[in-house]
Amino acid sequence: MVVKCQIFPSAEIASKALALEIKALIHRRAVEGKAAVLGLATGRSPLFLYEELVRLHREEGLSFANVVSFNLDEYCGLDPEHPRSYRTFMDEHLFGCIDILPENIHVPAGDLSPEEIGPYCRAYEEAIVKAGGIDLQILGIGRTGHIGFNEPGAGRASRTALVHLDDITRADAAADFGGLEHVPSHAITMGCGTILESRKIVLMAWGANKAEIVAKAFDGPVSDDVPASYLQEHGDVSVYLDQAAASELAAPVAVDQKTACFTGLR
Ligand code: GLP
Repeated sequence: MVVKCQIFPSAEIASKALALEIKALIHRRAVEGKAAVLGLATGRSPLFLYEELVRLHREEGLSFANVVSFNLDEYCGLDPEHPRSYRTFMDEHLFGCIDILPENIHVPAGDLSPEEIGPYCRAYEEAIVKAGGIDLQILGIGRTGHIGFNEPGAGRASRTALVHLDDITRADAAADFGGLEHVPSHAITMGCGTILESRKIVLMAWGANKAEIVAKAFDGPVSDDVPASYLQEHGDVSVYLDQAAASELAAPVAVDQKTACFTGLR
């Protein structure tokens, strides 16, 4: 299987290229009279992408009326209005700035009782299937190698479920929550198996602090120590990197004439 690693001059340029791919997908689906089903991520990695999608909506009239979205994950113990919930993040950076229909937005709930979680997770999976499956899944990567909140040890076939967060992941979120003690210990996340059923996947990583885990995930063996490495087995995965995030990948890479970025197949 092939993972295409594309190394762009900057995160902004990479994000603009991805936004154009999403625009093309939305148009293609609209012509077919269908919805474009997007899997969406939170964190810093997709911020430029969301900025560009909002710009395309405001300045170029790109409509999201035929988009259905499924977010990867949500912290447990936070209601949707909590300032640090992923729902709030998505509303601020994307949903509140475009014309996506509220009924087409899906973000896992963070405020469920323990008895509600199992049935809720199964219903989340069913909603993805009912929407026709995810056309394009956007991912970031955690320094533990997580995708969504699937931490090391998560199985390749895992499904949407309640998970325990790794210490490194909680430490990375501590500043956002005003201290480690305020970072939730659990989350609901789409499983690795759920993510791998997406027809196409794009993972974004920027900056030197992602270089080591990017190299492990895409130059190393497929291993449940690094859940992102499962992407090597998917068949239609692109990894969008800036030069710093790509700095520990083994050469060679070739310049792609069309996109003016370096491309390496692994
Ligand atoms: C978070 C999210 C992931 C995200 C990752 C990287 O904890 N659950 O979906 O991809 O960590 O975050 P960032 O993009 O801020 O580096």
